[in-house]
Amino acid sequence: MLTLETATTTFTERFAESAKLTEHGKQLIPGGYSRTSFNFGPHAVFVTGGSGAYINTVDGHRLLDFNNNFTVNILGHGAQVITDAITKALPTGTSFGNPVAEEAELASILIERIASVEKVQFSCSASESVMSAARIARAYTGRTKIAKFEGGYHGFTDPVSVSVHTHEADEYGPEDAPLPVADDAGVPQQVVDQVVVLTQNDISGTERLLRLHAADLACVFVELESGAGGHVMLTDEFAHMLRRVTAELGVLLIIDETANLRAAYHGLQSLYGIDADLTVMGKIIGGGLPLGAVGGRADIMSVLENGKVAISGTHHGHRLALIAGIACLRALDQRAYAQLNGHAQRILDELRLWASERRSPFTIFGRGFSSLAYAYCKEPGQQVTTHRDYWHKVDAEKTQAFSLELANRGIFPVARGELSLSLAMTDDDISTFIDTVKAIIVDMES
Ligand SMILES: Cc1ncc(COP(=O)(O)O)c(C=O)c1O
Repeated sequence: MLTLETATTTFTERFAESAKLTEHGKQLIPGGYSRTSFNFGPHAVFVTGGSGAYINTVDGHRLLDFNNNFTVNILGHGAQVITDAITKALPTGTSFGNPVAEEAELASILIERIASVEKVQFSCSASESVMSAARIARAYTGRTKIAKFEGGYHGFTDPVSVSVHTHEADEYGPEDAPLPVADDAGVPQQVVDQVVVLTQNDISGTERLLRLHAADLACVFVELESGAGGHVMLTDEFAHMLRRVTAELGVLLIIDETANLRAAYHGLQSLYGIDADLTVMGKIIGGGLPLGAVGGRADIMSVLENGKVAISGTHHGHRLALIAGIACLRALDQRAYAQLNGHAQRILDELRLWASERRSPFTIFGRGFSSLAYAYCKEPGQQVTTHRDYWHKVDAEKTQAFSLELANRGIFPVARGELSLSLAMTDDDISTFIDTVKAIIVDMES
């Protein structure tokens, strides 16, 4: 029978070179690498590069990449349109103390796609743009507190490093009035005290807390489909309540589409039929180079031009990232979204049917967008509506065993249970994925 122990043993044997590089890295870099999310069970998997739908590891394996740098690489690796665009620009310099015309070009693409976005400001990452969005919202409203959802991940900065992994805390309060809990040592209590924590899909609790804190509340950060803290999808009813009540109270609704821009050409907010006041973007918009953005209503964004708020980073609006982002988004037309979402829907349909027929607790979450989530649950047929619900229902050990075994058998997911598809994947790649998942589950349940 396949267990966490056997999967770990195989992983350790198959990825021994990666283990060596991790150990070497640890002498120079805390943990061995600069990004804790690289952790994959015992250690990270080091790569030498990638091509199309695949990555090559230092251990000599070619893995079908369902991680895609945590949703970034929507075209796959080494996409010709991006390579050509960067290569053409490279000989004329990489970095300037001047703006380039491509900034307005990428801004116009985002404005054309996302109905609620009238003006855009770029940074180097979504974490930075989340921080900018909080400052813009505070400046615009004159209020200090921010609200976010329990389990909502919006990057690593202080204002939002609150109640992301609350299930690991000793005390996190009742679900209809969660306590704000610092996610990391080093986040000051004064920062935590400025955060109101809400529960996904809890209509009455959320409305009550928003009204209670309205006088001090600048904004609410929300992901319509959350990923990093555990997979939860907001209901239409809940999302519309959030839009209605925040508008009534003058609280800005900030929709974090960093990962969700993958869902639809016009953003996930278009599928819900709601308009954000501000939208945070990242990941795919830089075409594989570091780029973040905040965009939204022109009157709100005007705090950036009337001297009230000055946000200016050395690499903000970096030319190469803009150029790569333009190439990526131009390739991502409606037909590309249809292909990606068609593949995701096939995975959902086939694996859900198969798991329910054999009464397996293995669960695929999602709505057929090109990022899906998976978990080995404690019971078959689980529905998840809140962050706590997710962590109560998921069998963390079996999910980890499954993730490691996927890598052992040639498929690389996000270890905590996420899958990102790329346009480079073929029907055969999707079949390989589905067949591999079934074989692993059979071995885990035999
Ligand atoms: C929803 C969401 N917001 C913000 C971020 C932070 O983005 P970055 O890592 O580019 O700073 C992430 C990253 O995973 C994310 O998923």
